[in-house]
Amino acid sequence: MTHAPDPFETLEATLGDRALYPELEDVYLGWAAIAPASTLVRAQVGAFLSDYAKGGLSGFGRWLGQRARLKERAAAFVGAEATDLAFCQSTTQGIIALARSIDWKPGDRVILFDGEFPANVTPWQRVAVDFGLELVTVPLAPFFRSHEEGLAALSHELRKGARLVAVSAVQFQSGLRMPIEAIAKASHATGAEIFVDAIQALGVVPFDVGRGTDAAIDYAATGGHKWLAGLEGAGFVYVAPERVAALEPRMAGWLSHEGALDFLLAGSGHLRYDRAVRKSADFLEPGAQSHIGLAALEAGLAPLQHLGPGAILAHVQTLHDRYEAIFREHGFGSLRTEEPEGRSGILSFECPESVDPIALQHGLRDDGIVVAIPDGLIRVAPHWPNDLAECERVAKALSELL
Ligand SMILES: Cc1ncc(COP(=O)(O)O)c(C=O)c1O
Repeated sequence: MTHAPDPFETLEATLGDRALYPELEDVYLGWAAIAPASTLVRAQVGAFLSDYAKGGLSGFGRWLGQRARLKERAAAFVGAEATDLAFCQSTTQGIIALARSIDWKPGDRVILFDGEFPANVTPWQRVAVDFGLELVTVPLAPFFRSHEEGLAALSHELRKGARLVAVSAVQFQSGLRMPIEAIAKASHATGAEIFVDAIQALGVVPFDVGRGTDAAIDYAATGGHKWLAGLEGAGFVYVAPERVAALEPRMAGWLSHEGALDFLLAGSGHLRYDRAVRKSADFLEPGAQSHIGLAALEAGLAPLQHLGPGAILAHVQTLHDRYEAIFREHGFGSLRTEEPEGRSGILSFECPESVDPIALQHGLRDDGIVVAIPDGLIRVAPHWPNDLAECERVAKALSELL
């Protein structure tokens, strides 16, 4: 595959500088929900639309190389090879595709965590019904107290035997970063595999699939519309190379076959229905995809690669330090862990009894400040373009509202 020339080679992005987001709301702290569109995203989507306006088929051809380049970029971002990835629509679609492709045996045990975002629960519940699996739930509370305590609770379940552990790299409510390497090692030590929902980590927390190491992740999925700064409708799935062969082609579609496009490109006599399904992760790309979403995803990802997740996380932690002090002054309880390796892009607070989270969210909204309220917490989720001056706007707004 020839790659298109990289339009992001000379991009400029500086931590705390929102020049790429000129239209963004005053204080946008909603990155753990939905990313705003940068000027790079707008330009790339605009270029895509312009090519499709000239001709759908010619547009398709022109953007093939961009997707190959995006796959390389996304793979490099997570320590994988491009061949380990398949594009998908969303985290959920990725999880469903993986969950339905695993070669389950009746009675296989799957370990989940209580308090996870439902995207990482429902697909496992469905395959449990369809394939006769046993679901086990481990509480998150011990992980919150310490990684050691959490791992002990998990190991207790792993020792009873498990086929798979499904976990989010970062918990959507508390922002707790899970010890993925240690979970992977503990899982493998007992013969279990590990799936990681990476959407609350990728883009703001260093994340590596550990390909070929003893802490290797077996499967992962992410949407691109949060910290990866793309739009809804495009994300990717990772499958460790040693796991691909065992996957069942239950989710295969017309584009999953070897030589799938031959009958459209190579003249007559190629229309056949007996072509093998590819033994690579991209068999999970069964048909047409959101190519416009994939154009946006690359434009979201490029500045993150440029800045580096380590630097982004450090920047975000300086903002969290300030937000934590501000909210605590008003009697909010911080869910931020003391352990630096447990911290992420999400900082959440429990409201004091006198504060209604919905009313507070609306009040802040009227002041141009966007926060989320998952399960009644106040969730503050700044990213690389946010800066410290914004914290003082939030402090002022809180003082006026409370
Ligand atoms: C941990 C986690 N997984 C998944 C999702 C969303 O999944 P999807 O990309 O399918 O909408 C979210 C938030 O929306 C989340 O916080």
